This record gives sequence, structure tokens and C-alpha cells, in this order.
Amino acid sequence: MEPDELLARIRVNGAIPRHVAIIMDGNGRWARERNLPRPLGHRSGMKAVRAVVEGALEAGLEVLSLFAFSQENWQRPAPEIQALMSLLEEYIAREADELAEQGVRVLVLGDLTRLTPAAAAAAAVLVDRTAHNDKLTLNLFISYGSRAEIVRAVRGIAEDVKAGRLRVDEIDEAALGARLYTADCPDPDLLIRTSGEQRISNFLLWQVAYAELFLSPVLWPNFGKRDLFEAILDFQNRDRRFGRVTAS
Ligand code: FPP
Repeated sequence: MEPDELLARIRVNGAIPRHVAIIMDGNGRWARERNLPRPLGHRSGMKAVRAVVEGALEAGLEVLSLFAFSQENWQRPAPEIQALMSLLEEYIAREADELAEQGVRVLVLGDLTRLTPAAAAAAAVLVDRTAHNDKLTLNLFISYGSRAEIVRAVRGIAEDVKAGRLRVDEIDEAALGARLYTADCPDPDLLIRTSGEQRISNFLLWQVAYAELFLSPVLWPNFGKRDLFEAILDFQNRDRRFGRVTAS
């Protein structure tokens, strides 16, 4: 089915997920299948990011979260890390105007102290430039690990208690959620992972508590609007109970 037809079906069904999170996986395998170096797989993955952002805007999502670089990825060979940092800068240089015009608010989330100064500066400029936009929030998770994010939030709580700003009996799920990078976003309704892997890989562990999972066999560089729309259609057929029984 063509993407436009899928989109029409999504609109008829009505219940659009507010927040879709994606673990973009399979760039390396995409490159290997073609006897290309891994960085070319990532470059191709960057084009898929563009297509999926367009799809998110067309479908009317509020938030799209993309796992672009994990804390564990710092252990990859230096040339691959360098290629990924350059790609981030290139993505920002190429897409900034269009993202700004499309009304996309970009947030870059993770331990940004480890980015190259050029990549960190480019990210800060884009975040600042798009801060007033409200059509779609695009969360780019870079140098991100969910356990580290939770530890950071717990430290924040401990500091607030120590300083007398928070009482121990005020520590609840909302207090922790408010100290995560995603404090302003609804939790993901749908978590997509590409390339046939079936792991969460330390991505948004707290936030995906009730997310529906969609595991796609498609390698990330081949993932497009059609695949995103198919995942949303699949989501629309799920029975989300949040631990309760179905209303009859
Ligand atoms: C996983 O594939 C993908 C990554 C580690 C990087 C994701 C980066 C991009 C999609 C491009 C840059 C995006 C932005 C927003 C600038 P893998 O290398 O683990 O693939 P493999 O499992 O097949 O080896």
C-alpha cells in the first residue's frame, strides 16, 4: 500500500499515538550487505531520519524520539565515532532550515559533555533556534543511556532533599519523571526497533513502561514513511489496558 493510503487509514482509525520512540538499528548490516564501510550505513541512516520526521509531521505525532547514539557506542572504533559526530553536524547543517520551517522543536538529550565541541555547539544552536516551535518535538538522544539518566534524576532528588527543597514523602513517580530528560514529554505510546533485534538496549527504560512494542525486520536505512505508517496502523489495533481489564 502507498504511504498516502496508509495515512488515510490512520486518519480514519483516529487514535494517533502522541509519542513514538525509535531504536534505529541495522546501519552496519545495511553497509555490510553492500560491501560498504559502516559509516556509509550511518549516512544512509541519516536519510531515513529525514523521511521519518516528514512522516511524523504528516501523521500528526506530538513527539518523535530517536536513539541516535548510546553511551555504549563510545566503545566503537574511533573512526566510526568520528563519522557519527560528523554526521550529526552534517544533519544539523542540512536540515536546520527545513526543521525550523516545518515547526519542529528539536531537543538533543544525553550526556552532551562528551560530544566534540563542534557537534555540541551545532546542537545547541539548533535547539535554541527551534525552541519556540510546537508542531512536532523531535528528541535526538545522543550519548544517552537510560540507567545513567535515572541515576542523574536520583542525584537531583537527593540534592533537593539535602537542600530542603523536597521532603522524602514528596518523592514519587512524578518527582522522578520531572528530573528525566523527557520531563516535558508524554511517555512513548509506541516503541519501534528496526533490524529484527528484540532488545530495549538501555533506551527510555522508565518512560516505556506501558509502550506498545513494534519490532520491524527492516534495516534502519531502508525504513521509511511507509514503515512508520504501518507501525502506527498496527498500534491502532492494539488493546491497551495499562494493567486493567478491557472495558466491555
Ligand atoms: C545502529 O546501527 C545505529 C547507530 C548506532 C547510529 C544511528 C545513527 C543514524 C541513524 C544516523 C545519524 C542520525 C542523526 C540524527 C544525525 P548499527 O551500527 O548498530 O547497525 P548494526 O547493528 O547493523 O551493526
